[in-house]
Amino acid sequence: MHKPMAKRTPLRNVRAFRSAILGWFHEQGRDYPWRRTTDPYAILVSEIMLQQTTVAAVLQNRRFERFLATFPDLATLATASEAELLREWEGLGYYNRVRNLQKTARVVLAEHNGRFPSDPILLATLPGIGRYTAGAVASFAFDRSTPIVDANIARVLTRLFNHRAPIDTTESRHQLWSWADNLVPPQNARAFNSAVMELGQTHCSARVPACLDCPVHDFCSTRNPASLPTKKPKRKTMEVIEHVLFIQKRNGSILLAQEGGSRRNGLWKLPERSHHQVADFPHLATRKYSITHHRVTLHIHRCPTSQVPPKPVNSIEQFHSPQALAALPMASPFRQALLALMERKR
Ligand code: ADE
Repeated sequence: MHKPMAKRTPLRNVRAFRSAILGWFHEQGRDYPWRRTTDPYAILVSEIMLQQTTVAAVLQNRRFERFLATFPDLATLATASEAELLREWEGLGYYNRVRNLQKTARVVLAEHNGRFPSDPILLATLPGIGRYTAGAVASFAFDRSTPIVDANIARVLTRLFNHRAPIDTTESRHQLWSWADNLVPPQNARAFNSAVMELGQTHCSARVPACLDCPVHDFCSTRNPASLPTKKPKRKTMEVIEHVLFIQKRNGSILLAQEGGSRRNGLWKLPERSHHQVADFPHLATRKYSITHHRVTLHIHRCPTSQVPPKPVNSIEQFHSPQALAALPMASPFRQALLALMERKR
C-alpha cells in the first residue's frame, strides 16, 4: 500500500527549514538594486513602488533608480511640489502612495530627527505604511527579526502548510502572519524574508510551481500546489463608459481638466461630458483601461472650440500648449490617447 512519507515540517524542523531556504538564496538569490542598499528611505521607496508595479517593470524602466536620482533623500522628497511628485510617479498608479511617501518623509524629519525607526510597530504608525511595509523596512534595512507576509509569501506559506481556506479572511491573515513570525530566524531576517519572497516569485509561482527543484520541497505538505491559495468569490467588475472631448485651438493648445476625487487628485485628463453633451460631435477613438474594480471604455470626441458644452461645476479646465503637456501629471490612459491623437494630426 502507498504510505505517505514521514515528512519534515517547517515548524518542527525550523532550523533545517531556515538553512535550506537560506542556502538556496545565498547561491541563487537575485541581485536587485534595492538589495544593494540598507538605507531605510531607499528600501521604503522600493517597497511602495513594488506594491503596484511588477519587479520587471520597475527594473526595465529603472523607476527605482530614477526616483532616487530625483529625490535622493528625505529632505528633497519632503520639499518637492505635488506636480514634481506626480510627474515622477506617472504610470505607476495609485498616486496616493507617493503623497503618503512624502508625508512619511516629513514626519521622519520632524518627529524622528530624520532617522527612520527600526521598530516595525513605530514604522507602522507612519502614513501609508502598513504591517507588511513596516516589516519589510525593519527586516531589509535593519535586519530586525520580524515577519513579513505579501502575496508571494502567502502563497509559499499556504502551500507549505496546505492551508486550503480562503486567504482573504481575518483568520487566515492571522494564521499566515503567525507562521511567518514562527519561521523568521533571530539572525539574518533580511536574507530569510527576501528568500521566502523570492521562492514565491520563482519555484513557488502561482501557475506552474517547479516543485522538483524547490529547495524546501521536503518541508511542503500540499499535494496540489497549483490549487493554492484559494480566495473568497470576488465582486464583479463594473463596466463604465466615459465620454471625453478633444478640443484643440488653432495654436495647438488642448483643453484639459484636473481630476477631483481623492485617489487621482491633481492629475490632468481630457474633459469629460455626458453622452448627451457629446452626441453631435464626431467620434475620434475608443480606448479601454481598468482601474480598481471598474472596466472603463473611453470614447473620445472631437469638439470645436466654439461649441464646448458647459463644464461640470467645481471642475477646473484649462488650455495647455503641446510643449507644456510633457510636464503635466496625467493618468496613463489619457497620456497615451493624447499622444496618439497628436501623432495622427501630423
Ligand atoms: N516585491 C516587493 N518587495 C520586493 C523585494 N524586496 N524584492 C523583490 N520583490 C519584491
